[in-house]
Amino acid sequence: MDRFIIQGGNPLKGKIPVSGAKNAILPIMAASLLAPGKSVLSNVPNLIDLKSMAHLLRIIGARVETGEGRMQIDSTDVCYCEAPYELVSKMRASIYVLGPLLARLGEARVSFPGGCAIGTRPVDLHLKAIEKLGAEVNLEHGYIHAKAKKLKGAVIHFEKSSVGATINTLMACVKASGTTELLNAAMEPEVDVTVDFLNQMGAKITGKGTAHLVIKGVDELFPVGMEMISDRIEAGTFLIAGAMSTEPVTVTNCQPEHLEELISKLRSAGCEIIIEGNEITVNPPKKIKPVDITTLPYPGFPTDLQAQFMVLMSLAEGVSVVTETIFPDRFMHVSELNRLQANISLNLNIATVKGVKELGGAEIMATDLRASAALVLAGIKAQGETIINRIYHIDRGYDRIEEKLNAAGARIVRDKV
Ligand code: UD1
Repeated sequence: MDRFIIQGGNPLKGKIPVSGAKNAILPIMAASLLAPGKSVLSNVPNLIDLKSMAHLLRIIGARVETGEGRMQIDSTDVCYCEAPYELVSKMRASIYVLGPLLARLGEARVSFPGGCAIGTRPVDLHLKAIEKLGAEVNLEHGYIHAKAKKLKGAVIHFEKSSVGATINTLMACVKASGTTELLNAAMEPEVDVTVDFLNQMGAKITGKGTAHLVIKGVDELFPVGMEMISDRIEAGTFLIAGAMSTEPVTVTNCQPEHLEELISKLRSAGCEIIIEGNEITVNPPKKIKPVDITTLPYPGFPTDLQAQFMVLMSLAEGVSVVTETIFPDRFMHVSELNRLQANISLNLNIATVKGVKELGGAEIMATDLRASAALVLAGIKAQGETIINRIYHIDRGYDRIEEKLNAAGARIVRDKV
């Protein structure tokens, strides 16, 4: 397992580019199963999670070719309806094939996704929604087995805002008979882009960008080509890195409209933020002000940036409070940050961060994707050497993060163990 060795204390400066959005590409790869023929995606980064999804699509019978930022998915011969344990246990987003397989083949068997490092993550909302569309759902030997000759439109009110359940239900119902209404649908940009992709395929979905989506079922869908949006979480990670620097940092190829809540919090922390087209420049403050955050569904503060923002707050002049409402156990990074001499205490889903003058290098361990990114930011800032073990998590969601950060002044070496 690779590890990062970081010589801290080297300020970042200059431009850092952002890649395509993993969390948009994963559902769109699954959506491409809905139409026989070749769909082509561009602005696709090289990430382990996308490779795992490509592997799963191949098992199902699709042909997937990747290279030079493009991915071609030929779904002509899709014929197997099973997502096996080995893949789903590695990547929860495999659950995204449930809706499309049910719509295309009338049957899907998907290994039940378990918990993960960020806590319990149920899929009850996905299952209740497809049942409402008329599917028969059984849990057998660790698998979700769903069947439906023809799904039927329904009114579905999600009791909780869920990105995954909204997208899975959309993919299941685009070819259902009649009209489906989704209430309390998630409004994340990754939902919007999936709506765009499905509509380009021939679906009839209205209400994009709101919590009320209306889907008129269609008989046929067609493959399409689409450029993927840029990754708002990667962009946010680099903006936070810039906020901890002593020099201006410009994050390029990003979509500032997806980052409004973070930008507002960075301004409250004392940063000057300049937005020009698809570039955002952060001029870091001399002294970081403490700012409280509460994670919420979009457009609220994203849970996927909570760990990174906590690193910034650990260097603030004063005390800040971080409240996690999406995944209440998502605090594995706290003990690792404290090893780097941060001063963070935890009470249930609320972390109290007492700012320290500086962090100090240590040997630590990456636990999940976003926590790993936070540890990298902390390592860049900490005095001395930081060794981060088990960094395979970071390769799941960040394309060449060490190369991008090194080009902006960091000193990170990948040690292949
Ligand atoms: C997606 C993102 C993940 C992000 C999360 C929240 C992908 C691949 N992953 O995950 O990076 O952290 O959104 O923005 O896009 N819930 C239920 N029952 C369900 C489904 C969800 O109770 O059936 C709960 C979850 O436990 C959580 C909340 O709903 O408390 C939101 O989760 P959800 O939006 O579904 O997250 P994911 O789609 O899994």
